[in-house]
Amino acid sequence: MLFPCAVCLSVVFPFTGVGCNSVEKKIYVHLNYTVPCVRLLNATHQIGCQSSLSGNVGVLHVLESEDNLDWVLSKGPNPPYLVILEAALFTRSIMMKLKNGSNRVAGVAVVAPNTNPTEPFSPYTTCPNENTGVYTEKYDPAYAHCNVTVWNPLGNGLAYEEFDFPIFSLKDDNDTQVIRQCFLDHNQVVNGSAPQYPLCAMQLYSHMSAVTDTATCMRRNDINFSISPEGVCDPLGDSNVWASSRPINTTQKGHKNSENVIIAAARLDSRSFFFDIAPGAQSSVTGFVSLLAAAHALRNATQEAPPNRTILYTFFQGETFDYIGSSRMVYDMENNQFAVDLDNVHSVLEVGQVGLRSDSQLWLHSDPVSRRNSSVRKLIENLQVASKDLNVTVNQPQASQPLPPSSFQRFLRARPIPGIVIEDHQSVFTNRYYESMYDNAEYLNISYPSNLTADEQLEHITETATVPGSQPGRGGYKVRGAHFLTAFLTMVVVWHILINSFSLFSPQSAEKPTNFYVGVANWQSSEPTFLVQYLLANLTGTVVNVTKEDCQHQREDDKDKESHHLYHYMWVQGSVPPNGTQRESFCVRSTVHLSKALSPAFDPLKEYTSTEYSTWTESRWKTIKGRIFLVASHELEVSLELNTGKYVIFTGKKNAKCRG
Ligand SMILES: *[C@@H]1O[C@H](CO)[C@@H](O)[C@H](O)[C@H]1NC(C)=O
Ligand SMILES: *[C@@H]1O[C@H](CO)[C@@H](O)[C@H](O)[C@H]1NC(C)=O
Ligand SMILES: *[C@@H]1O[C@H](CO)[C@@H](O)[C@H](O)[C@H]1NC(C)=O
Ligand SMILES: *[C@@H]1O[C@H](CO)[C@@H](O)[C@H](O)[C@H]1NC(C)=O
Ligand SMILES: *[C@@H]1O[C@H](CO)[C@@H](O)[C@H](O)[C@H]1NC(C)=O
Ligand SMILES: *[C@@H]1O[C@H](CO)[C@@H](O)[C@H](O)[C@H]1NC(C)=O
Ligand SMILES: *[C@@H]1O[C@H](CO)[C@@H](O)[C@H](O)[C@H]1NC(C)=O
Ligand SMILES: *[C@@H]1O[C@H](CO)[C@@H](O)[C@H](O)[C@H]1NC(C)=O
Ligand SMILES: *[C@@H]1O[C@H](CO)[C@@H](O)[C@H](O)[C@H]1NC(C)=O
Ligand SMILES: *[C@@H]1O[C@H](CO)[C@@H](O)[C@H](O)[C@H]1NC(C)=O
Ligand SMILES: *[C@@H]1O[C@H](CO)[C@@H](O)[C@H](O)[C@H]1NC(C)=O
Ligand SMILES: *[C@@H]1O[C@H](CO)[C@@H](O)[C@H](O)[C@H]1NC(C)=O
Repeated sequence: MLFPCAVCLSVVFPFTGVGCNSVEKKIYVHLNYTVPCVRLLNATHQIGCQSSLSGNVGVLHVLESEDNLDWVLSKGPNPPYLVILEAALFTRSIMMKLKNGSNRVAGVAVVAPNTNPTEPFSPYTTCPNENTGVYTEKYDPAYAHCNVTVWNPLGNGLAYEEFDFPIFSLKDDNDTQVIRQCFLDHNQVVNGSAPQYPLCAMQLYSHMSAVTDTATCMRRNDINFSISPEGVCDPLGDSNVWASSRPINTTQKGHKNSENVIIAAARLDSRSFFFDIAPGAQSSVTGFVSLLAAAHALRNATQEAPPNRTILYTFFQGETFDYIGSSRMVYDMENNQFAVDLDNVHSVLEVGQVGLRSDSQLWLHSDPVSRRNSSVRKLIENLQVASKDLNVTVNQPQASQPLPPSSFQRFLRARPIPGIVIEDHQSVFTNRYYESMYDNAEYLNISYPSNLTADEQLEHITETATVPGSQPGRGGYKVRGAHFLTAFLTMVVVWHILINSFSLFSPQSAEKPTNFYVGVANWQSSEPTFLVQYLLANLTGTVVNVTKEDCQHQREDDKDKESHHLYHYMWVQGSVPPNGTQRESFCVRSTVHLSKALSPAFDPLKEYTSTEYSTWTESRWKTIKGRIFLVASHELEVSLELNTGKYVIFTGKKNAKCRG
């Protein structure tokens, strides 16, 4: 067992520790840009990674190839090892071997490359949200479990495995170079003979408070709460963002006789193996940005000549984790907790992955069971007519193919509502990096004039998303379909503005990749939710001349009592004009609202073993950090080994051993 003396000296034994005198301590480097894999739990399992309470320590071993694994797993004389993997070696095969030899593995650090690999990589499952969509055994056994189409054939499932050691991602920078050098200087195997002390070691901290499954940790939360307000896990969740093409009274919940809505949907979130790297470029951003662009393009047409059906633009959060956002909205609609109910829903039109990379083809996916309904066929016909003028080919996949994973499945699960899901793939995903850190801007291969200021870019959005020749009054699907598809063509440009807006909103995050991981539900919206809320208001709303106070109190003036049922008012900081010093703030009136994206399994049902709703929670933790240092003695290891009988983790008890 290796022992980092710094812990020993500073934490357990602030004065001269007997057992620690022999350790030559030299802290080389604190690893600043590290991203951990964290523990998530559902009704039956825990997945992800964790360290012991005081961090896992191992002798550094930079793996050269899969063939060299035997040094780590059997031959090397100084276990446990902390394995450094270049990204190309972060494969299922290697990771599962390390997992199974975990008594000799203290942890893994993956060096994230600065450019994407050439090989495909998806740590997600092959059949996303397998059990929580519409295709259950009950609906039609022939379609259950991705029987007809395995949507993500490249998925290796690593993000759903459990590892009992920490796994971190390191940025490939000078720090990483220091790590490699430390290995070369001290730990390299020369002519098959074991390296001599002192050895270079690494320590990773990512202790997770929650264990076993969601029911267990929620129970612990309740028990802990009676003692202290400290929980061990939190449900995943956030807020959905929605807006209607004409105002709907949101104070009055449930059925509205006068409403007939078309839900235009997209997914807001994404994930990857590591905690807060989830760029989701093709998997979610292409879809929701297309929807934003479409909402903007339709703005004038729907205001000047409101179509008979109201369009409800909805951006769902947490869909990656068993459809949190959409299942909640459907639940709320079923229970008169939303502005409209399911009887008000005429149809659903969803935008999925629309990268439009190689060929400009879009595919209209529908459900083989509900396609027997004539209104679905009509919907498809109209979309195809609408695409005639555009440089996009619109096709239908073969009739026997069920829907790809989509929020629409949750509506269909509740009742046979007609609907279409628009994707850029005919059958299996074309996305080579689905739900991985490589599904990023580089993958979409976007270039744009980077010298535009944020304001110029927003202007750019406005110009590019404008649909030429849009004639109000054509009504119905035809106008909408055409605009939708035209909007896709401008998607690429808009996508960039979004990314730039992120650095605009939080300059400190500019260095990190954009993160669309849903995170835990709390009172505050996440950055992506806020941004989409803001952009949607900007693209569909109106600037009104209202004081800050009235704006923040949701009214247009002192007398106005009705408007807050219909509109939402947002006070926007605005920017500093070129010749000025003060921000020009203003009030935006829109129909943009937030709704809960928290699984009904937690609120209100408290059914933590639900099979109907998402039960995903995220463990809490206190410390995430890593460092490397030299360890000089074997004696300490031996004495610890004798005492514990095996190489494992630090615990409070073992720390005490340090006293000799
Ligand atoms: C890493 O963080 C430590 C402590 O905050 C700081 O002293 C050090 O300069 C940082 N290193 C780098 C390379 O940023
Ligand atoms: C799919 O379902 C059909 C009908 O239930 C069954 O005959 C077939 O073997 C299944 N295919 C796969 C790959 O499971
Ligand atoms: C929980 O997650 C595990 C790992 O992905 C999965 O095998 C299991 O089916 C999930 N349980 C439920 C109830 O969804
Ligand atoms: C990394 O190391 C190189 C060469 O030693 C040096 O030129 C560069 O400034 C360093 N970068 C950082 C961020 O420290
Ligand atoms: C909206 O609904 C509330 C509650 O039913 C009602 O008091 C209010 O007058 C309605 N507002 C409008 C503009 O219809
Ligand atoms: C379609 O492509 C042609 C030739 O590339 C171009 O001239 C035309 O403007 C495009 N039409 C639209 C609507 O983008
Ligand atoms: C941005 O750069 C391009 C090419 O370098 C140049 O033509 C353009 O005028 C620049 N725009 C602004 C606003 O500076
Ligand atoms: C919408 O109408 C306004 C005012 O009539 C006009 O300035 C704007 O350019 C139009 N926007 C689009 C996208 O057509
Ligand atoms: C909209 O409703 C009006 C009156 O009910 C009807 O005349 C018109 O045909 C409808 N338009 C569409 C596109 O359905
Ligand atoms: C949208 O943002 C632009 C740029 O900040 C601003 O000029 C415009 O007034 C905004 N419009 C609305 C409706 O918020
Ligand atoms: C906004 O309202 C104030 C007070 O009613 C008025 O003095 C001002 O001229 C208005 N500004 C614009 C641009 O209409
Ligand atoms: C800035 O310039 C604009 C237009 O040139 C002008 O209307 C405005 O008054 C100026 N603002 C200040 C603070 O000088």
